[in-house]
Amino acid sequence: MDKQTLTKEIESVKDPRTETTLGENNAIRHIEIDEEGLVTLIIGIGEEDDHAKRVIKRDLARKIKLELGFKGVRIEFEPLRKKDSVLDEKRDVTYIAVASGKGGVGKSTVAANLALSLKRIGKKVAIIDADIYGSNIPVIMDMPIEAPKSDENKKIVPFSKHGIEVISTEFFLKDDKPVMWRGPMLSKMLNHFFYDVGWDDDTEYIIIDLPPGTGDVAIDIQKLIPECKMLIVSTPHPSASNVAVKAGVMAKELDHEILGVVENMTHLSHNGETLKIFGEGGGEMVAEHLDVPLIQQIPIGQPESGHHSLFASDEEIGILYLGLANKVLKAL
Ligand SMILES: Nc1ncnc2c1ncn2[C@@H]1O[C@H](COP(=O)(O)OP(=O)(O)OP(=O)(O)O)[C@@H](O)[C@H]1O
Ligand SMILES: [Mg+2]
Repeated sequence: MDKQTLTKEIESVKDPRTETTLGENNAIRHIEIDEEGLVTLIIGIGEEDDHAKRVIKRDLARKIKLELGFKGVRIEFEPLRKKDSVLDEKRDVTYIAVASGKGGVGKSTVAANLALSLKRIGKKVAIIDADIYGSNIPVIMDMPIEAPKSDENKKIVPFSKHGIEVISTEFFLKDDKPVMWRGPMLSKMLNHFFYDVGWDDDTEYIIIDLPPGTGDVAIDIQKLIPECKMLIVSTPHPSASNVAVKAGVMAKELDHEILGVVENMTHLSHNGETLKIFGEGGGEMVAEHLDVPLIQQIPIGQPESGHHSLFASDEEIGILYLGLANKVLKAL
């Protein structure tokens, strides 16, 4: 039995205090099944209540072990906050998650340049770098890696660069190797990270650089931000576009609205010639499959300023990113 099926099976278990189901409360925060058939769960709970915890544990164990035949179950609880959406704390913030499926297609570059372009249009923007496998937003934004401080309300103070506030998994990892993090621990860290950052009050848009892939971490993060909009990045090559379709389908299953597909590395202009190094049609294919617009195509190129990833507003690719930002605003 896979995780999605198991999630469906246990969604009907009730929180005895509120008489609402775990599904209704969006309380299944993390789910993991190991090779030996041991299930690990993190369940969100409204208030610290030992009785409620015992009842939920008992009902889950009954379902998972007796009815479904799993070998064992380990359950941890964490606080479920309000309606359990980061949006509750900041109603007027729009979250835009950038996903790709495949790694290395330019997801972080697109996320950073989109943020910068929105800023240039006059919007107040922040970035959450949630890519625990290879977080590269701090490098793209030229930011030192330091542990953030917390303010008097115990909120994490984000760093700011180019007028954009940034928080990154990288700031918290120290010498730990992120890939060695166990799922539940990671999920808790990201949870903390999504709720406890003291963004500027005027923040209008938060761009989220999601980890590549269509696995647990991407799903966990997308569950944390139920109302986030999505941008899917692909290259023209089938190796990227096939996985991008999967990422898009997953986003749709989680009920996220997909604003569009960005095709990155569309072509290279060389001596007046257009070279389609990664083939063609990938972006269009993804857009068609997901029934969303191919919102922008970005060619291969380096910033003229010599910066490694951020484009100026008056160079060709910088203008294309401004176009992307405008189309995103329109789509919202
Ligand atoms: N349009 C482009 N033209 C040239 N190089 C690009 C372009 N887009 C991205 N790159 C380069 O490709 C590399 C990968 O880009 P980036 O790090 O943004 O991808 P990613 O999808 O975030 O990767 P990862 O999966 O590692 O997070 C970087 O070196 C980046 O500078
Ligand atoms: Mg990246």
